[in-house]
Amino acid sequence: MAAACSATGRLPMTDAVKIAVRNLYKIFGPHPARYLDLVRQGVGKQELMAKYDHVLALNDINLDVPANRIFVVMGLSGSGKSVLVRHFNRIVEPTDGRVEIDGRDVMALDENELRALRRTRISMVFQRVALMPHRTALENVAYGLSIRGLPQHEARSHAADWMRRVDMSGYEDYFPAQLSGGMQQRIGIARALATEAEILLMDEPFSALDPLIRTEMQDMLLRLQAELKRTVVFITHDLDEALRLGERIAILRDGEIVQHGDPQSIVIAPSNDFVGEFVKDIDRGKVITVGSIMSPPNGARPKAKLADTTLLEDALVTFAEDGARAARVVNAAGKGVGYVELADVVQAMKAPVAA
Ligand SMILES: Nc1ncnc2c1ncn2[C@@H]1O[C@H](COP(=O)(O)OP(=O)(O)O)[C@@H](O)[C@H]1O
Ligand SMILES: [Mg+2]
Repeated sequence: MAAACSATGRLPMTDAVKIAVRNLYKIFGPHPARYLDLVRQGVGKQELMAKYDHVLALNDINLDVPANRIFVVMGLSGSGKSVLVRHFNRIVEPTDGRVEIDGRDVMALDENELRALRRTRISMVFQRVALMPHRTALENVAYGLSIRGLPQHEARSHAADWMRRVDMSGYEDYFPAQLSGGMQQRIGIARALATEAEILLMDEPFSALDPLIRTEMQDMLLRLQAELKRTVVFITHDLDEALRLGERIAILRDGEIVQHGDPQSIVIAPSNDFVGEFVKDIDRGKVITVGSIMSPPNGARPKAKLADTTLLEDALVTFAEDGARAARVVNAAGKGVGYVELADVVQAMKAPVAA
């Protein structure tokens, strides 16, 4: 069986890097800088807390967040997800290391640039969006546009358009308290998108919602993103959500990145037991594609043919229907790119043993 695709976390050459994180450390406590060397020498989160009463929130984080994609940061509660993304607009300042947006160090921005970053270039959506209670849904969406200088009527018509795009037409004049949690999240998303910020930071935006509503919201985000192509950094503690939304996923544990790559590589080749534990119950047939487990073309020309994007469970159906035991794998252009056997597919559907 062919090796899984890139598990290194390095981006394909075609992806521009929107946010680069380099050797980022964040320690909370009265004397963070004093403990940096200890952390560099290998003192971990538990020890730093127990012996020195400081919180190691981020430990040598390195990431490339690609432009125009959904990048997921996943981890358990307390793993450092929120602290990490709060560095992107400098709500949190690093103990050490750098964050660059479009190649510019955010710590080097002057006051005006920082204001522009926070107001216009990055918008945020939280688990519970804080809508202004005494303003209508429409006014909440329009507000950010008005403070950016858009004339009132334009801001309102723009806001109405965004409400339509999040399926909230008809609720323009409702007040937040009259809306369900899911509806409020939709308004929060409309408000965040309406500013046309290049970067959307979404910190567990769907975590408080019922499963069904949550799935609807994920669908909506995917549908909007297909058209908008913003740079989305999406935080979740839920692997299903991560796999559903993430084009790339970074997994945090105790302030460290334990794995970073595309969803398939994480499911196929978890880098350690921690990640393995996360992915073991995943329905692999719905996540892994034929293209990521195929071997190179080998001269054999079986009759059966599968697109490289075929999910394993669909591949099994094809094998069963054709009574085939092997298939050629072709890309979108119809070019032969690989070879896969029924046995490879079955094997890949079993939970892996961590590397
Ligand atoms: N202002 C703060 N002061 C002290 N510790 C903090 C502060 N903010 C976060 N932390 C700690 O940093 C770690 C990471 O927190 P956070 O990023 O909020 O986790 P997550 O978002 O993954 O649940 C946790 O141990 C948390 O207790
Ligand atoms: Mg958090």
